[in-house]
Amino acid sequence: MKDNILIPKNDIQNRVRFLGEQIAKEYENKEPIFVGILKGSFIFLADLVRGVSIPLMIDFIEASSYEEKESSGNIRILKDLNINIENRHVIVVEDIIDTGNTLNHIIDNLFSRKPSSLKICSLFVKSKKHTLNYSIEYYGFEIEDHFVVGYGMDYKGMYRNLEYIMIV
Ligand code: IMP
Ligand code: MG
Repeated sequence: MKDNILIPKNDIQNRVRFLGEQIAKEYENKEPIFVGILKGSFIFLADLVRGVSIPLMIDFIEASSYEEKESSGNIRILKDLNINIENRHVIVVEDIIDTGNTLNHIIDNLFSRKPSSLKICSLFVKSKKHTLNYSIEYYGFEIEDHFVVGYGMDYKGMYRNLEYIMIV
């Protein structure tokens, strides 16, 4: 199984630590809210915020997958934020961006709540041809068009607990 390792544990940890330090510098005195997109971002978010040495808040949102949706921008929220993000600085934390459809819907929704600012932090950006309508301020790795699991990401609900990234 370990034969298919795409990114080993150490490489992930170094990169996540770097992102955390970068965010800490840019958000000093802004008390940002990190919004993790469930479930895939939970491990990335947990490691990321431990490297962000400034006051911050954390919340989570879960939305139903876009396949069931029209392109109206409406998504079904399975678990909504608890914190009001109006006039706050938001950093949306995602595991992986493929087509960008999921994030387009979620970010449209979050913008309607009038945050002061909103930036995206994704561990992986998969497709160079993604149709995300927003720029990705922070990302960990650009990867080829493989299906990957581990470090929060799943295949049929499994493999989220792997400490490395593996190609299925
Ligand atoms: P998008 O909407 O096409 O950008 O897909 C993004 C979502 O699909 C992510 O939040 C993941 O949950 C899931 N996803 C996309 N590619 C992968 C993959 O390679 N492994 C696991 N999940 C993936
Ligand atoms: Mg996801």
